[in-house]
Amino acid sequence: MTNPEKNFDAKIEDILSKLTLKEKIGQLNMQVSPRNDQALADIMDQLRRGEFGSMILANSDTAGNDAPESVNTAMCNKVQKIAVEEGPHGIPIIYGRDIIHGYRTIFPIPLAASASFNDELVEKAARYSAIEASAVGVHWTFSPMLDMCHDPRYGRIIEGPGEDPVVGRHMAKSMIKGYQNGDVSKEDSLLTCAKHFVGYGASEGGRDYYRTEIAPYTLYNYYIPAFREAVNAGVDTVMPSFNDISGEPVSGSKHYLTDVLRKDLGFEGLLVSDWAAVHYLADQGITANDKESTEVGINAGMEIDMCDNCFINNLEELINEGKVSMETLDNAVRSVLRLKFKKNLFENPYCKMPQVDRTEHLKCAKELASECMVLLKNEGNVLPLPKDKRIGLLGPFVHEKRALLGSWCSNGKEAETPSLCEKMLEKFGADKIITENNHTEIDDVASAVIFHSDILVLALGESHRVTGERRSLSDITLTPSQKALVKKAKASGKKVVGVFFCGRPLALEGIAEYLDAVLYAWHAGSETASAAADILYGDIVPSGKTVITFPRQVGHIPMYYNATKNRFNCYYGSYADFSYEDSTATPYYPFGYGLSYTTFEYSPVKTDVSEISLEDVQKGKKITCSVTVTNTGDYDGKETVQLYLRDVVGKMMRPYRELKDYNKIFLKKGESKTVEFTIGYDELGYYLADGSYILEKGDFEVLIGENSLTKNLAKIKVI
Ligand code: BGC
Repeated sequence: MTNPEKNFDAKIEDILSKLTLKEKIGQLNMQVSPRNDQALADIMDQLRRGEFGSMILANSDTAGNDAPESVNTAMCNKVQKIAVEEGPHGIPIIYGRDIIHGYRTIFPIPLAASASFNDELVEKAARYSAIEASAVGVHWTFSPMLDMCHDPRYGRIIEGPGEDPVVGRHMAKSMIKGYQNGDVSKEDSLLTCAKHFVGYGASEGGRDYYRTEIAPYTLYNYYIPAFREAVNAGVDTVMPSFNDISGEPVSGSKHYLTDVLRKDLGFEGLLVSDWAAVHYLADQGITANDKESTEVGINAGMEIDMCDNCFINNLEELINEGKVSMETLDNAVRSVLRLKFKKNLFENPYCKMPQVDRTEHLKCAKELASECMVLLKNEGNVLPLPKDKRIGLLGPFVHEKRALLGSWCSNGKEAETPSLCEKMLEKFGADKIITENNHTEIDDVASAVIFHSDILVLALGESHRVTGERRSLSDITLTPSQKALVKKAKASGKKVVGVFFCGRPLALEGIAEYLDAVLYAWHAGSETASAAADILYGDIVPSGKTVITFPRQVGHIPMYYNATKNRFNCYYGSYADFSYEDSTATPYYPFGYGLSYTTFEYSPVKTDVSEISLEDVQKGKKITCSVTVTNTGDYDGKETVQLYLRDVVGKMMRPYRELKDYNKIFLKKGESKTVEFTIGYDELGYYLADGSYILEKGDFEVLIGENSLTKNLAKIKVI
């Protein structure tokens, strides 16, 4: 929410009229946190001269990969005092930081949080993140990250919602709501930033900061919807992306930033560059130097320039030369001042450092971690683990703590993060857990553990160091030593469970076959181990579902469920052998997939009408679709009921199916519930390449089921 009842225009114009040209430009400059006393002293001087208006509380461009660092609140207040008392016209500084999945309490990485399909919990996690971050002086988070992605090699896949635009829309709405808490002027709310607009997740080959090819039809239907939702939800700022789209760098593109984002999507907030993205325009070869990059960037629509000094060093000259208009500059300054008024910084510039009780936050972190873990396989119901058997615990993640927090772990503390081993000992008792003390993957110790156990649990996965920004991989299979451990465990003839701590889906063909059960636990934050141990023990019934397809092999990437339909779309099984001579190109685990300890049965899909007129849809009439879901197993459990739609014949090729809505429900053993969805204007149409929305007459299939391969369908017709 943007505090619409408050109109700051008169105050903004008053300040604007008093600012010198240099001071105006200063408001558009974002400074980096000082690393030492000398840097702090320099910054104070810059501030007295009005040379910057905002600061990022990080000291490198890849803060997500660095060792966790705290915010120095005393420093923030000291700098703020200079701004307010000695800077131009008492304009306060605004502090931004990447609060991506928590500040001190670390929630699951966003990709995992999406897999919970629990919007309420996601909102709560954002709310608690805001409380913790604002308590140390952060005003503005560079989140949510809304980059749809088809390529799990891409390191930054951890930060986003996965492969589905509707999941992206839900994440956008829930996270923005949680951070803002209804009123961003409150001390314990955060200003929000939807990033990276647009198409960054399509970087070719999953290589970071790389080029993309996205045709407008795909852009509008696939990459833009989450941003459209963010704008509708009142996101405060947007960060343009580093990538180019077919040779046009988005950060220097008037088309994407002004025509699409401002005019088409109706965004009225502030545009902040990504770190040094203006300077990067020269690297991308559309400008020769920083001065030209500044001209192109600000004229495209960029308003705050993050950490590359392009604006501060070049704008004055460009204004004097008439290459950037005073109106463009003034509008950007207005956006910055409006953001500061919205956050109430003129009235309340200092952080009072309130004490934060994190009890509820940790509870929420545990709940979200529990709901995002995906049970991919459970042959012979090997899970939950028997309580009377000796469990052999092996693998490189048995004692791991840091990786569980994931990339962008902000101020999360490794020492406060329990390992799987600690939680397993707590849960099952020391007499039931047999393990090793070091990270040996396959040696005599492993042999001894295997020999003395009845059942084996392997803690597998990937380090946080191979996920996140500038951390893409070319090979997303398990490391050779982990593969060897899996095979050795299997050769013992005992039941083997794999628990995977990862930031992305791994290509598991050739490995999962050796495992009786696979629990995908992700890098799920502070409470990862606690949630995983509870699931293994049976205190928590798993309910996460994949938000991204697990490919069989790296060579099958990209593999996603909502590609356009044609005869040879192998995702759904037919013609799968036509794709490659050497392998079958079906997903290993499809989108929306995840098992439970219990079982659910779906009734056939019902719709209240089987036909609806186009005119009625345009007037807002909807079709109600429903199923009755029954818990037919032995546990109480949660199920994410998913509604997909297929537009059978369209002017354009349409996806085989698209998720349109979901509802996560809780069912006691034996209980049944009827779940209703409505579909209408927003669900039945799609965007054409020019950005217009089209509704077509014809046949549709409504599919409601447990994952994207469901065959449970009803037919409807738009006449
Ligand atoms: C990342 C952004 C981040 C910014 C500030 C950039 O390198 O791409 O996502 O918000 O740094 O840390």
